[in-house]
Amino acid sequence: MTAESIHLGRKNDPSQPWLRTAEHADQEQVRTWRNIHARSFFHQSPITSTGQQQWFEEYRNRSDDFLFMVMAADQSIGCIGIRFRSDAWDLYNIIRGVHSSCSTGFMATGLAMLIAFAKDIRPGAVRADVIAGNPAINWYLRNGFAIVTEDECSHQLLFRDFSAPQSKTIP
Ligand SMILES: CC(C)(COP(=O)(O)OP(=O)(O)OC[C@H]1O[C@@H](n2cnc3c(N)ncnc32)[C@H](O)[C@@H]1OP(=O)(O)O)[C@@H](O)C(=O)NCCC(=O)NCCS
Repeated sequence: MTAESIHLGRKNDPSQPWLRTAEHADQEQVRTWRNIHARSFFHQSPITSTGQQQWFEEYRNRSDDFLFMVMAADQSIGCIGIRFRSDAWDLYNIIRGVHSSCSTGFMATGLAMLIAFAKDIRPGAVRADVIAGNPAINWYLRNGFAIVTEDECSHQLLFRDFSAPQSKTIP
């Protein structure tokens, strides 16, 4: 399945996020957010406009790869991606770009929506690789992930269950 125009959730409920697949017009926004948060990711070199466009053209032709914009009413507040690689779903480009009190928790809800969507398409484990030192590790642990392996460079996380009690916190 390729990422055509997919909407998840209800657009007219301001208390909840909704997701829409990223379009060509979103790529500068995604690139800006990604470059601002470069140190949160393994690939830390600035992404150029051309590089982002090339990535998007290739992405559009890939199956089982979905980059969604997380929406609060009509505003994009972040992005969230998932792709099927090596027999598992792999999360990528999870970034909050806009902070607003009315969208507190929207990234976590968006993550839950994304995982449900992916598992509906194709069963499989959902994993996230987090660079060592990124405080986002605790966000994953609060949202149903557990650390399966770790070394000095990275943590490999697997999704367990959203209803699971809070996991250990890394200081
Ligand atoms: C990881 C990241 C996307 C999380 O974004 P976020 O805005 O913290 O996530 P949420 O929208 O889920 O909000 C979480 C906060 O809202 C609160 N919250 C969650 N659900 C809530 C709800 N239903 N009602 C009220 N508050 C809620 C949580 O307690 C949490 O607050 P806390 O961090 O003070 O504990 C963000 O930190 C980010 O963009 N980091 C930089 C990029 C990055 O590292 N990405 C991951 C790479 S692996």
